Amino acid sequence: MRPANDRDTGGRFLIVSYSYSGHTHRVAETLQRAIKGGWQEIYPWQPYPMAFPELLAQVKKEIQGHYRPRLLPVSHMPRPYPVIFVGTPNWCGTMAPPLASWLYQNDLSGKLILPFYSHCGGVPCDLRREIQALCPGAEVGEALGILDRETGDAAEQIHSWLLRLGLTAPLRQAT
Ligand SMILES: Cc1cc2nc3c(=O)[nH]c(=O)nc-3n(C[C@H](O)[C@H](O)[C@H](O)COP(=O)(O)O)c2cc1C
Repeated sequence: MRPANDRDTGGRFLIVSYSYSGHTHRVAETLQRAIKGGWQEIYPWQPYPMAFPELLAQVKKEIQGHYRPRLLPVSHMPRPYPVIFVGTPNWCGTMAPPLASWLYQNDLSGKLILPFYSHCGGVPCDLRREIQALCPGAEVGEALGILDRETGDAAEQIHSWLLRLGLTAPLRQAT
């Protein structure tokens, strides 16, 4: 993969993330401080149930049926951004359906997509492969997975990931 800062990013990074219970949100927040990009949180039109058994049943059904939930309107559109970070919780070994909706409904051809996710150490997910399948015209970089109990203190993991991606300048700004 071409290092992200070899691209004509002009410092234009967008973070798009979905979080149900706040862990992925914390990763996005730390990332945003490091890269100083725009941040778009996404929300399903119909909120997910609060109770875990109902949530799990609905999530399994949506994932099995490749259901793409309708999203609330967003203010940041991806078009001006050559590099887009996308974040999600790992749900049942895959991305949460709201992120799948967003990826599906936007043309991300020619962009570099950098995925991150939070998880509890259960069934693993291969976010890079999944996103590449959903967005064949985009380049997808290494995915960063952060344990949910470490999301409040993930700056080092995020900085190492940005370094591996070739995003060294934002790292210097962030420290
Ligand atoms: C419905 C559901 C399914 C989950 N499935 C997995 C899984 O397959 N593997 C895993 O490691 N964690 C799984 N988790 C744990 C979440 O990925 C983890 O707690 C994550 O940090 C939650 O992110 P959030 O607070 O941004 O929603 C699941 C959680 C929920 C609610």
